[in-house]
Amino acid sequence: MATDESGVGEEGAEDDDPERVELTVEHGEGTSVLSVPPGTNLRKALLNAGISPYTALTERANCGGRGLCATCGVRLLTPRAPEHWHDRLAARFGYPRLSCQLTVTRDARVRTPEKAVWGGRSHDES
Ligand code: FES
Repeated sequence: MATDESGVGEEGAEDDDPERVELTVEHGEGTSVLSVPPGTNLRKALLNAGISPYTALTERANCGGRGLCATCGVRLLTPRAPEHWHDRLAARFGYPRLSCQLTVTRDARVRTPEKAVWGGRSHDES
């Protein structure tokens, strides 16, 4: 949340720690709650926490976060407007969103899809 020099946030809302936002991640091992600075790239936040958005194969064969390979998809359980062209298509057609093209600006919840093969997802994802 934006704050002025007095430290008072918009509309008088209070934050316990405006320097951090909470990212809740549902993944194959369970649920993890990460505390990251606002503006953190989602892919980097996941990788820094040891949570991969990739399959075993694409862990090494990906574009490194350039928005080109479409292998870093996650489900956003907290809706967010897309900014990248691929992310707009993913949002429009219901595909996982590219974690490398999203920043965490507020508390959010995401789920990493189960991936069997190159970019493949399980059937139970919505
Ligand atoms: S890492 Fe390649 S599209 Fe995200």
